Amino acid sequence: MERTFAIIKPDAVERGLTGKILDRIEEKGFKIVGMKKIHLTRSQAEGFYYVHKERPFFNDLCSFMSRSPVVVLCLEKENAIADWRTLMGATNPANAEPGTIRKDFAKNIEENSSHGSDAPETAAFEIPYFFNSFELVG
Ligand code: PPS
Repeated sequence: MERTFAIIKPDAVERGLTGKILDRIEEKGFKIVGMKKIHLTRSQAEGFYYVHKERPFFNDLCSFMSRSPVVVLCLEKENAIADWRTLMGATNPANAEPGTIRKDFAKNIEENSSHGSDAPETAAFEIPYFFNSFELVG
C-alpha cells in the first residue's frame, strides 16, 4: 500500500465541488486515511510550495492557495501517487484527459482544483506537513 497527499484547492471548495471530488476518489478505490478543511495562511502556503519559490508564478500561487479554505487529504491504495495524478489529469486543464478532475472542474493552470504529490519523497514531505500520526487512520 502507498500513501499520497492531496488538496482540493480553493477554486473547487468555493464552488461546492468537495463532495463530487471525494466521490471520484472513493469510486477509484482510494481509502481516505486523513482529511480536514483548513484555511492556509500565506506563510503556510509558501512553506508548502517552497520548491517553486523561484518560479514566476510563486506569489500568485501562494495568494490563490491562501485566499479561502482547502480540503487536505491523505489517500491510500496500491500505486496511490501515480493513480491520484492520473485521476486529477494534467496540471493545465486545457491538456487534461476527458473524465479527469481537472478537465471536468478546473478553471486554468493556477486554479486547477486539485494537487497531488508527484513522487514518494514529495509525499513524505507533504503528508506530515499537514497531518500528525494521530490524524491518519488506516
Ligand atoms: S512544473 O513546471 O512541472 O514544475 O510545474 P508543475 O509542477 O506542473 O506546477 C507546480 C504547481 O504550480 C502551479 N502552476 C502555476 N500556478 C500559477 N501560474 C502558473 N503559470 C502555473 N504553472 C504551474 C500548478 O498548479 C502546480 O500546483 P500543484 O498544487 O503542485 O498542483
